[in-house]
Amino acid sequence: MKRTQLKTVLAVAAVAALALAGVARADEAMAPDMSKVLEINGEKMITHTKAPKNIPGLSEIYSGWLFRSPSTQQMETDDIDNPGMTGEAMGETEWTNVDGTEGKSCASCHGDLAKMKGVRTHMPKVNKDGVLWSMENYINDCRTNRMGAKPWKWSGADMQDMVAAISVQSRGMPMDVQTDGPAAKYWKEGEKMYYTRYGQLQLSCANCHEDHYGDNIRADHLSQGQINGFPTYRLKTGKLTSIQNRFKGCIRDTRAHTYAEGSPELTALELYVASRGNGLSVEGVAVRP
Ligand code: HEC
Ligand code: HEC
Repeated sequence: MKRTQLKTVLAVAAVAALALAGVARADEAMAPDMSKVLEINGEKMITHTKAPKNIPGLSEIYSGWLFRSPSTQQMETDDIDNPGMTGEAMGETEWTNVDGTEGKSCASCHGDLAKMKGVRTHMPKVNKDGVLWSMENYINDCRTNRMGAKPWKWSGADMQDMVAAISVQSRGMPMDVQTDGPAAKYWKEGEKMYYTRYGQLQLSCANCHEDHYGDNIRADHLSQGQINGFPTYRLKTGKLTSIQNRFKGCIRDTRAHTYAEGSPELTALELYVASRGNGLSVEGVAVRP
């Protein structure tokens, strides 16, 4: 077995033991150091606040930024030091690039990229046909049906660069996904998934990110698994990571079969997890180990 694989197995087994012990309740999970303040280019972010009413398992919510090491935290405070902003800049350039049979760019219809302000705070969102869509779905719908261009791969660099460029427009604004009305059934499905135990290790998202945030599993300081900072730049891979790709990684760690990016399951889960962070600032491109 490769070293890294072994490390993961050990880390996961450690959490499995904690979960089996069954002593931890949400309120006993450890809060991060909240004296740290995140300012991005001088603008203050909301990194902790009261949990939304429909999330009874948490009383306070915390951005993943609060759980990271000082050097990783530092990289997110300034766009010049943030390695993820290179991809974001590519997305900005792509915004005005003409592509496809219709001779259009994103800007042809949407105008200035700044007009996308606020869009991130509402994603995923039910579309006009009543189907829940992530930002990636909206982007590919515009590319294929409105531009006559090829769809982008969900976690491909061109897609995540564009997701980053659009997300950055909402920086500082609180996440505010809809959980009622037409979104209610998707939200309930996502909630159910969040508490379902998966894989050989029989662990749910909640076992780690609700019951044990603040704990250390080996090198990892467990966070609440919030998604207000996505897409995130991972130092480990040196690229932007999509929300659903990160979910897949966590599901795989429980030794379970996972779902595809863009599947109805992961999209419902994305809505639910986004709602657990309603009230936290969109951080645009976060930096993670
Ligand atoms: C031909 C016009 C056109 C082009 C070109 C176009 N879009 Fe769109 N886009 C639309 C329309 C119209 C909607 C509204 C769709 C809806 O609400 O169902 C939309 C919706 C969106 C949304 C969702 C916004 C929201 O508030 O829900 C995003 C994100 C988006 N487009 C991104 C892009 C990107 C990125 C590109 C370029 C790769 C692009 N669009 C190109 C017309 C266009
Ligand atoms: C075995 C424990 C474990 C389980 C189960 C687990 N995760 Fe994670 N997750 C981690 C660890 C460890 C990390 C990296 C440290 C951190 O950010 O918390 C992580 C990171 C994340 C992140 C990135 C957070 C950030 O700030 O960038 C998200 C999002 C996430 N997990 C969501 C989920 C979801 C959704 C599920 C259920 C499908 C899940 N996780 C299940 C251990 C777990």
